[in-house]
Amino acid sequence: MSSPPVAVQRLVLRSPDDWHVHLRDRAMLRSVVGYTARQFRRAIVMPNLVPPITTMADAAAYRSRILNALDDRDDFEPLMTCYLTDDSDPEEIGLGFEAGVFTACKLYPAHATTNAHQGVTDIRRIYPVLERMQRIDMPLLLHGEVTDPAIDIFDREAVFIERVFSRIMMDFPALRTVFEHITTADAVAFVESGGPNLAATITPHHLCINRNAMFAGGLRPHAYCLPVAKRERHRLALRRAATSGSPKFFLGTDSAPHLIGQKESACGCAGIFNAPYAIESYAATFEEDGALDRLEGFASEHGPRFYGLPLNTTSIVLERDPVVVPERVAGTSEGELVPFHAGETLPWRFTGFAPGE
Ligand code: NCD
Ligand code: ZN
Repeated sequence: MSSPPVAVQRLVLRSPDDWHVHLRDRAMLRSVVGYTARQFRRAIVMPNLVPPITTMADAAAYRSRILNALDDRDDFEPLMTCYLTDDSDPEEIGLGFEAGVFTACKLYPAHATTNAHQGVTDIRRIYPVLERMQRIDMPLLLHGEVTDPAIDIFDREAVFIERVFSRIMMDFPALRTVFEHITTADAVAFVESGGPNLAATITPHHLCINRNAMFAGGLRPHAYCLPVAKRERHRLALRRAATSGSPKFFLGTDSAPHLIGQKESACGCAGIFNAPYAIESYAATFEEDGALDRLEGFASEHGPRFYGLPLNTTSIVLERDPVVVPERVAGTSEGELVPFHAGETLPWRFTGFAPGE
């Protein structure tokens, strides 16, 4: 790949959106939401609260809490999702989508990740919901990992494709589906082989780290998330997919804050908090791969096109001005948060919106 022209000092991009983020609730929501709203115009907000967001009323109330935490500013739009359970009601979901309350449904296999204990135990339990979603063209967002403890954790995404995902696509060939936070070359190939109704999000961290990062000189809880980072060859496959220009791959940070005490623990939580420097991280990756000209498609165009939403009309500016990522940022009264890239220097700095827009 060719190197970017050395003269590029300033990038002006159509404002990006984050198609997968955990904003949490209460004090944590108030601490983290500003980081996302600072760079992104819209975000698909994950519903894995305790208890999860399963009804229109839950989603509407959560949306108000998010906007309220931003002092009701009008330049950030949270897009709400419905958490699927074995008992999900196709009617509630269909009505919620048609009313514009839900943008999509999120499927967590039961026990796959943080707050997934009420997730779906057997995909056949939600076939009536998937039928309805296919009919009304409502997107399904998938956490694609099997939970069978007999399957090695590094193989759970590939086995999910084999055992579950291929079957969903066979039974619901027109279902608009996002394979969330993909981590393997297998997932890249699966998404590429599907129709235009199958796409994937890719996080900043899975583009930067492989599984060694969790064990570099000792156990590194801040590099632990689910799906867990895989071998280097998988990271390289993700980088090729993200920077390829294919409309099937788009930005989804999976920013997932947990207080430092919950990460640095004998049984630490899964999740990487990347919201503070997300767009800077993606910019560094795209530049390293000589693909800065494809960042805008990945960050700001492929997602809205897939979801059938208008492209943002505002722009953001990044300047070549190294930014040092702090070791910690404020969390709640119970602790701080460690951002992704803590202590590192990133080459591009987000400086705000383009003048006049
Ligand atoms: C997420 C969280 O903490 O909510 N954790 C993570 O490691 N990504 C849940 C998820 O998306 O799996
Ligand atoms: Zn997530």
